[in-house]
Amino acid sequence: MNEIYSKEQLQKLPFMDSNLNLENRVEDLLSRLTLEEKFKLSSGRFMWHTKPIKRLGVKPFTMYDGPHGVRPDTMGEILCTYFPSGICRTATWNPKLSHEFGKAVAEEVREVGAHMLLAPGINIQRTPMNGRTFEYQTEDPHLNKVIAVATVKGIQSQKIAACVKHFICNNQEVNRFTVSSEVSERALQEIYFPAFKATVEEADAWSFMSCYNKVNGIYGSEDFNLIRERLMGKWGFRGFVVSDWNATAYTSTGSCVTAGLSLEMPTAKKYNKRNMKKAFQEGKFTEDSLNDNVKRLLRVMFLVGLYDAENTLPRGSRNTLEHQAIARKIAEEGIVLLKNEEALLPLDINTIKRLAVIGPNANFRIVEGGILSGGGGSSVNYPPYEITPLEGLKQKCKDKLEIIDTPSKADVTIIFAGLNHDPGMDAEGVDKNAFELPSDQIELINKTVKENPKTIVVLINGSPIAMEDWIDNIPSVIEAWYGGMEAGHAIANVLFGDVTPSGKLTMTFPKKLSDSPAHVSKRTYPGDDKVFYDEGIFVGYRHFDTKDIEPLFPFGHGLSYTTFAYENVIINKEYVRGDDKFIVSVDIVNSGKRSGAEVVQLYVQDIESSVERPLKELKGFKKVNLNPGEKTNVVFELEKSDLSFYDDVSGKWKVEEGLFSILIGSSSRDIRLQCKIEYIG
Ligand code: BGC
Repeated sequence: MNEIYSKEQLQKLPFMDSNLNLENRVEDLLSRLTLEEKFKLSSGRFMWHTKPIKRLGVKPFTMYDGPHGVRPDTMGEILCTYFPSGICRTATWNPKLSHEFGKAVAEEVREVGAHMLLAPGINIQRTPMNGRTFEYQTEDPHLNKVIAVATVKGIQSQKIAACVKHFICNNQEVNRFTVSSEVSERALQEIYFPAFKATVEEADAWSFMSCYNKVNGIYGSEDFNLIRERLMGKWGFRGFVVSDWNATAYTSTGSCVTAGLSLEMPTAKKYNKRNMKKAFQEGKFTEDSLNDNVKRLLRVMFLVGLYDAENTLPRGSRNTLEHQAIARKIAEEGIVLLKNEEALLPLDINTIKRLAVIGPNANFRIVEGGILSGGGGSSVNYPPYEITPLEGLKQKCKDKLEIIDTPSKADVTIIFAGLNHDPGMDAEGVDKNAFELPSDQIELINKTVKENPKTIVVLINGSPIAMEDWIDNIPSVIEAWYGGMEAGHAIANVLFGDVTPSGKLTMTFPKKLSDSPAHVSKRTYPGDDKVFYDEGIFVGYRHFDTKDIEPLFPFGHGLSYTTFAYENVIINKEYVRGDDKFIVSVDIVNSGKRSGAEVVQLYVQDIESSVERPLKELKGFKKVNLNPGEKTNVVFELEKSDLSFYDDVSGKWKVEEGLFSILIGSSSRDIRLQCKIEYIG
């Protein structure tokens, strides 16, 4: 068992043979490990690596953050492409771009010699106040699922492991190490699980990160039902679970091993040799559980090619022009035109003489002179350069018009307002301390528009904010998010109409915080030792629709510089039986004067149900690019599962017989066409 091998002998061991089948390699290596070596492999060292086992040539497995690009070290010595934040990428409603992002970022992971990216972060956006809303994707389970699957597939296409995080119900930063998310099985099934489950079933995700918080009283890292039974048993996950960094703090060694936590990060605490030995001797876990955990980690080591010749693996690359172009494209397509009265946008570069550019975010950047300008947390990056909004505009307008900072002397004024990654804003570890913009920004906006009515507000932030104090005074508002290192170019391209905006909100923007489902009482947010998800399945627009609350901007909202007409909705069946699929098609015409892209959204409504159901639920979407006058046919294939709900009584998904409306539109509150289908069981 404890044999020492020469280099030549090691090369000849079966697990080193890349022609051997994966499971045989895993079994062979596992069979050679001593109990102590298995303990050793179960925890990390130096923040980002597993421990090597020299005797067997087991190399360290390396993993880095994060969701917006690779950050190989915390000092900013190795620079990598900084992509737009998760909410921006999702606001493109374009899974192809998430796949391209995944592939590009994985190439950078490979180039810096690592094997796993600690991304994507796909926790549901339950409240606008969560400090990490900017990192996550959406409030809607279907959109979350489609974008997450594309991202994981993109990453793993390069034989780099994705690490889907944080499993599960890590929906706030406040008290994140101790709070228990008290959530119903129905809400888990309908809202919180679908994207995680789909990354396993549809994208074969190789790793999951456990959450800091408890779920219904049990810490994510030691939840046997959640990990061993549900994720591994029911969903068929073949990868490994890694703890969030120090998420094991309040857990026990035995229950973590038994639950299926393979790797404790960043260093050995519950999984140190002494604790492991003691728990094992006391029968707190079995060798079978440990073997399964280690096997899962080894499996992913083989999957990423840790024991294969380098020339047989996909090639890495970093900071390429191609990666920069992907970052810019995502930023462009993610920008949401919230409001555009009087068609102030797009700006005409030939008629404007003076453009005033002001506001605290005109020079927004995450790194200033090599130093991070704001916390942000684990998703921060050190990019090789950043095009700030002002720089982007300067490059665009060079020799064409003058950029000044006096609104009263300008033809048009642009105010770059919003938040940043300072603690208390869009940052990890703490939640936002205000729903409103800082008061000096509100004053600036209201004062400026009096001096110059042609004022546009461009928001740089990563979560819904209140706008009631100023929005009625402002003709045009753009949500530009944190757009990565090419943000300035993307914003300038949208402002001047080189790019027609096509992003749509992935989260409802409420008028006031108390309208939001998580903000009904202190118990529903932020909670104390427990936070009660009393809204159940009524998260985001499901709540606003059902309670008939007018949002500031609805889920799926986003304007364009052109217009789209929706025509001829056709459904191929009147009745649906059993598992029959049915097809809904609709014609979309670009009825305006510019090329542009539309996100066609399909929602399902159960007209009569024995249980409470949302007024509508997103079940499909397609983004189409059209030239002026061009028409295209958009087709959706639906099935029983798109009509069903999770039935608490039977503990199963269920469809009830009867009529369903199929609603097709440009946002959740701009439904253009509808038709009906009857499910007859
Ligand atoms: C975050 C994770 C991150 C990890 C490593 C944690 O605090 O919650 O998302 O991947 O740190 O930086």
